[in-house]
Amino acid sequence: MPIKHFLQFKDFTRDELDYLFARTRWIKTEFKAYRRYWPLADRTLVMIFEKASTRTRLSFEAGMQQLGGAAIYLNTRDSQLGRGEPVEDAAQVISRMSDVVMIRTFEQDIIERFAGHSRVPVINGLTNEYHPCQILADIYTYIEQRGSIQGKTVAWIGDSNNVCNTWLQAAEVFDFNVHVSTPPGYEVEPERAGLYGTDHYEEFADPMEAARDADLVTTDVWTSMGFEAENEERKRDFADWQVDEDMMAVAKSDALFMHCLPAHRGEEVAAAVIDGPHSVVWEEAENRLHAQKALLEYLLLGRIAS
Ligand code: CP
Ligand code: NVA
Repeated sequence: MPIKHFLQFKDFTRDELDYLFARTRWIKTEFKAYRRYWPLADRTLVMIFEKASTRTRLSFEAGMQQLGGAAIYLNTRDSQLGRGEPVEDAAQVISRMSDVVMIRTFEQDIIERFAGHSRVPVINGLTNEYHPCQILADIYTYIEQRGSIQGKTVAWIGDSNNVCNTWLQAAEVFDFNVHVSTPPGYEVEPERAGLYGTDHYEEFADPMEAARDADLVTTDVWTSMGFEAENEERKRDFADWQVDEDMMAVAKSDALFMHCLPAHRGEEVAAAVIDGPHSVVWEEAENRLHAQKALLEYLLLGRIAS
């Protein structure tokens, strides 16, 4: 049996994702009722971070503990990973001592190479190109709040980064539309985004037009981790790409606002929006925990008969 990894969103079929969301709902309900569920007793998750994190680390570490397992944190600064050990060698060793590995790193190629030499499932905890665990939680949150996302319009305002690319992959899997507005020079690169085609997204020069009649408006930082040298230039280039109250006003009246966090109020989003009535950012962040518990369960145990 080939090992199942979650390296980008399209690694999972619509059927698998629907199954994961059903499990997420059940796992969340049990957790909220303080009912113990320990299917991963004696299993170990290794988490490798080459970039900073609050939510991803916490949700994977807490999630693994809540499922009865253990999580070990490694980072580049104080492991041999930062001293030039080949990623293929690290994969051989780490995957002989653990049951599942989560990696947050730079190029997608690094995680692909790790997975190619791993004996256990590998999960992408964010790369320069993708952030599949984030969109797992985001789509679960949309469904929880509003029902099916099929046929809906998601407005992406800002950088065509890892989170944007993953929304675009998800649009192909779940058959919804993304209206993307980026400043000139920051447009979507379909090949880098790993898309099958261009049917599920449309690019808008004017962010207000992208947001018009949207069911969900979402954005992310102007400067992602690893691109800090471009920060000042990006602040200038993205100044007109802030999600503010005027922009939310042209979206549907019941539109949701999402942000993967951390956010910069006054840059990509106005405080009145992220702290306002359309915002579901705290539910979205919490659902990282529940959705990833379902992901860990699926990768380690397969489908649970219900
Ligand atoms: N959204 C997200 O992945 O947050 P962290 O960088 O805090 O993990
Ligand atoms: N696009 C951001 C997401 C952080 C969770 C980054 O890569 O830094």
